[in-house]
Formats: sequence, structure tokens, C-alpha cells
Amino acid sequence: MPDLNVKVGLIGKFDMLKFKNMKKVREKAIQAAPAEEISGVFPVNENTKALHPDFIELVIDRIVDHGEAQAKTFVLKRPDGAPLPYFRAGQYISLKLPVDGSFVTRSYSLCSSPKEALGGEYAITVRANPGGFVADRLLAEKKPGDRFISSGPQGFFYYEDLRDAKHVVGLAGGSGITPFLSMARALVDGVEDFELTLLFGSRDEDNILFRGELDEIARVCPKFKVIHVLSEEEKEGFEHGFITADLIRKYAPDGEEYSVFLCGPEAMYKFLKPEIEKLGLPERLFRRKLIDVTKTPWECEGYPQEARGKEFSIVVKQGPQEWTIPASADEPVLVAVERAGIKAPSRCRAGECGWCRSRLISGTVFIPAENEMRRWADVHYGYIHPCCSFPTSDLTLEIPGEFF
Ligand code: FES
Repeated sequence: MPDLNVKVGLIGKFDMLKFKNMKKVREKAIQAAPAEEISGVFPVNENTKALHPDFIELVIDRIVDHGEAQAKTFVLKRPDGAPLPYFRAGQYISLKLPVDGSFVTRSYSLCSSPKEALGGEYAITVRANPGGFVADRLLAEKKPGDRFISSGPQGFFYYEDLRDAKHVVGLAGGSGITPFLSMARALVDGVEDFELTLLFGSRDEDNILFRGELDEIARVCPKFKVIHVLSEEEKEGFEHGFITADLIRKYAPDGEEYSVFLCGPEAMYKFLKPEIEKLGLPERLFRRKLIDVTKTPWECEGYPQEARGKEFSIVVKQGPQEWTIPASADEPVLVAVERAGIKAPSRCRAGECGWCRSRLISGTVFIPAENEMRRWADVHYGYIHPCCSFPTSDLTLEIPGEFF
């Protein structure tokens, strides 16, 4: 062993002495401690559980019908009316719903202010989606007193001053307005502090969700501005057409850095992607929230066209259980699993949260680039997010148990 010739100073000698005596000191402390059992209730654990519960039981307190806009707002409370977990304006909750013998989850952005959570209320807004699996049933069947199982608040679509510019230009389409309404309400309540200029695209004036409230917030809150953009109607006081790079530049702050936040349907995202690229923003200044995963994977770059329209089979393993189920190449693996009545975990349904993470034992899948958010190790070791993976061959898949 080489002679390291280490010199230990006086203070270092004291440290070494302390270290040598550590065992004795600890034994003494243990002997001196009371013999009763430790309570097992630690404030930090209790706070964590309250802020990030595995699930919450919610009951519909009241429903607001938005008439022409074909949407309803559901105001939700705990059965005992207790405060709900606080959240960041822009986050969502995931509801677990029984549909035709299956259990499915759907994520809905909270449109209420975080401050209202402390008063025991969350609000979500559901818009009609003809041909969809869940939204129209919620609108037609749910009434005050009905109960849901929900996740706690989740997601990353919120203002973060370490990352985002102080001025945010929000781009919303249809029901994509809900996270922005939460942000606007939070600005009024003073629980968020940034400037929000919102370009809100709707078909025509009658279709503008929350028009009255958005305009009222813009009137009383200097940090919030809304511009209504109508695609099928030309009227004074409104912008006409689609949101474009030129329109964003027109309302973005002059000579000042700004972030762009986008929430809207897939068609809007596809249209706006090249427009936003024209702005030349650094990547960190662009945030998006997709409402759902694509319904037309074959239009995505890199899709293996020979798989389109084919039927495959999936061997699904979950603990000791195993099923063989049919799956269409045109739908995400998670949808096939849910159709088969298998309880599988999921929350965001857009590749972001990792809640559905499963091991692909054999077979191949296609993942659209905008939903590819797996960790490097997951890609390397063959894990997929079934919510945004489309089968392109027969598969064998190991899914985790369902915990909520
Ligand atoms: S449900 Fe979030 S990644 Fe699949």
C-alpha cells in the first residue's frame, strides 16, 4: 500500500475522536429513550398523504349546463365536505369510471382555482364528444349525488417561474380552455403571479365556453387578457380564422420574452406545430397539453403503413393471471386491455405520467413522437406506455396491478 502521508490537523483529530465514540453515544441515547412504542404518525407523512393521495372519493355536488356550447361543469366534493388536495392551476384529475363492464380512466383538467380546493371543491368541465366512449355518457347520465373515484391532482401543464417567461401566451381550443380558466381564476385569487394573454379559438360566438367569466376576469384582472378567435364566423370585436404565428406575434408582448402554452384537440395541435416553430422560441418556453392521444396513428411520421387496419392478439399478464385478447392496430394497447374488462392502471392517457408503464415481453408497437416520453432506461429495457402505444404485431405484455 502506498504511503499516503496524510496529515490530520487538530480539528480533524477531534472529528475522528467523535466518530470513534459515535457507537457509545448512540447506545446511550437508545438506553435513555422512553420504552413506549413510537406513535407511527409523522406530520410529514400525513401532509404528503393529504397532498398526494392514491385516490379520492368525490361526489357530484352540482352541475352547471353550458347550453349551446354542449358542455357541463361538474362541481365535485368529498362526501364529508373536507378540504381537497391543493394543486397547481393547469393540473388535471383522472376519474375512474365503469363503462359496459369495463373500467376506464379519463383525465379532466381542473377548471376551478386551487384556492377553492381548500374550501373542499374541485370543478371539471366535460364537452360533448359524439362517438366517444365516455364524455357523452357523463353528460347524459351523471347527476348530483353520483360518486367517482379520482386520482389526486397531476400533470405538468402549469406556470413555473424557474422555467417559464413572466408573460405567457395561451392558445386554447374547445374544451382546452379549462386549464387556462383555472389559471385565470388563480390570477384573480392571487395564488399565481404571471401575465396571461389567451387566444381562444371557437367555431362561432355561441360556442365560446365560459365567455362571460373570461371577459369579466379580463375586465377586473390586469394580468389577464382574452382574445376570442372565431373560425366560422366573422364579427366585429373578434379575430377571424385560425390562430397563426402572425396572430400570436400580434398579441405577444413587444420585445419581451414570452412562453407559449397550448391546450386543444389534436387537429389544432397539428395545425399549430409549424406555426409555433416559426416563432423560434427556445424549447423550454413552449408547453403543450394534448387532450388525448392521436386517433389517426397512420398519419404520424414513421408509422409502418402495412400494419394499418390489422387485427392482432395480445397475451396480457398481470400477476398470476393471463388473458389473450384481440386488439386493433388503430387503437392504443390500453384501449384493447380496457375493452377486455381488465383493470389496468392509467392516468394521463397521453404518455406523460408513466402510470400505465408495462413490460413488452414480445412484439412491436408504434409510439407517436409527441407521446414518446419514456425514460431512457424504459426504452432500453423494453417498457412501454400502453396508453399511447399502437400494436403493429401480436404482443405479450406484462401490466402492473391496478391500485385505484
Ligand atoms: S396513462 Fe400516463 S403514461 Fe400512460
